[in-house]
Amino acid sequence: MDMSELLDLNEYKTRIADLYDRRSSTYDESQWHEQICQTLLAKADIHAGQRILDIGTGTGHLAIAAARAIGTEGQTIGVDLSAKMLAIANQKIATLGLTNILLYHGDGENLTFPSLRFDRILSANTFPWIENKAVALRLWYDLLEPDGLIGIHSPADTAYVGNVVLRTLFARYGVELEFSNRLGTLAMCRDLFANAGFTDIAIATEQHGSYIGLDKAASAWHNLSNLLSDPTMDFSTLLPPVRLAEVEAEFRVELERRYSDRGIWNDLTTWYVIAKKSH
Ligand SMILES: C[S@@+](CC[C@H](N)C(=O)[O-])C[C@H]1O[C@@H](n2cnc3c(N)ncnc32)[C@H](O)[C@@H]1O
Repeated sequence: MDMSELLDLNEYKTRIADLYDRRSSTYDESQWHEQICQTLLAKADIHAGQRILDIGTGTGHLAIAAARAIGTEGQTIGVDLSAKMLAIANQKIATLGLTNILLYHGDGENLTFPSLRFDRILSANTFPWIENKAVALRLWYDLLEPDGLIGIHSPADTAYVGNVVLRTLFARYGVELEFSNRLGTLAMCRDLFANAGFTDIAIATEQHGSYIGLDKAASAWHNLSNLLSDPTMDFSTLLPPVRLAEVEAEFRVELERRYSDRGIWNDLTTWYVIAKKSH
């Protein structure tokens, strides 16, 4: 079933769908996302015959690996806002001849599966986009079978140097960026999952990162509109033009300050949260 005709997205979600529609053709060039999907899957105690829901399935890295792991008795369902990411996933599924995987064009925060419950709900590289994390986690809790597991991957607060610097600079002017993007501290993350009803919450952190060039780090400035606290706001209206020019100059100074002969350290610390729905 294609739910695209039922989609009624707010501006924030429309922007995400557009962003990933644009990224879709080059998305699979990087190994990074696939590696994360494999790690999340390995932590999620997958067995043959399970029913798995993949939120923000994208080009299908996790859903396809999960479908292979659960065999033909199991079923994987993937949901994504971006029709073009899903089109690539569907091509791969057809090429592989997988019959135990279904993709929906839909919003992971607004799902109705009247009679379906899942053994695993997984989400890789997507949780930062989830608009209301507390509400989404409660919904996903309801969609799990008793004893089912949720497995969420998210970058830590310290990840992506350009965004970290931007957040700090704009905060000085009273502008909050990335309103819902962050999980905060480990304790805050644990509380978020516990408040949704989950137990046995295990958070594994992995240290990743690399040195990147100044231009790559500075590209965060051009992606600023994706980080706004009010998703309907145009970033050019955030601050008066003179102030905005000042912040951009400060941003470049700060990146240059962090620059060494190897480049700028771009932290990519990742978190994997596995938690259980008790009876
Ligand atoms: C970085 S990609 C991750 C794709 C895949 N999980 C992976 O790890 O390769 C993020 C995906 O999440 C999707 N997404 C973001 N918010 C979503 C939401 N509320 N519901 C469904 N999909 C969403 C985007 O459209 C995009 O395809």
